[in-house]
Amino acid sequence: MKKYEIKVPVVACSWDELSEEQKKIVAIAKDQINNSYCPYSGFHVGAAAELKNGTIVRGANQENAAYPSGLCAERTALFAAGAQYPDQPVVRLAIACYTDGHFTAEPGSPCGSCRQVMIETEHRYKQPMEVLLYGEKETLVFRSAADLLPLIFVSENLNG
Ligand code: THU
Repeated sequence: MKKYEIKVPVVACSWDELSEEQKKIVAIAKDQINNSYCPYSGFHVGAAAELKNGTIVRGANQENAAYPSGLCAERTALFAAGAQYPDQPVVRLAIACYTDGHFTAEPGSPCGSCRQVMIETEHRYKQPMEVLLYGEKETLVFRSAADLLPLIFVSENLNG
């Protein structure tokens, strides 16, 4: 038997420690909480995806009375990016969460399905996507979405 430890590199930044590019995309993700449609959870999530050509595609969670029909903010942004700019790699993704009248103190954390979609996007464009998880206390910066989901499942796994 062997024991492994899976370590994930992550940097926790105060607002002032973020670069100008990072501040810009996080600010857009924060603004996007206004476009969240979340009458059932009251949990607003804003997302912003930056493409290689500099375009920023916005996302926000969209809920539905048939709960599973709704979609998370991250996936609305990534699917919109793929639908409108299929030739553009996504180089950066930011999310921010807002509930009970304020942004969450802790960084927002993408659900498993969103992590899987983020990884497919990286794989598709063969390029890492920086992921910024905003919180009032600190923003976590991951150099790649793959770091958010160790032992990833990608297309090669389908071939055994
Ligand atoms: N949500 C997101 O938008 N992103 C995530 O990664 C986690 C959860 C949304 C889905 C739902 O509208 C609300 O947050 C509560 O789960």
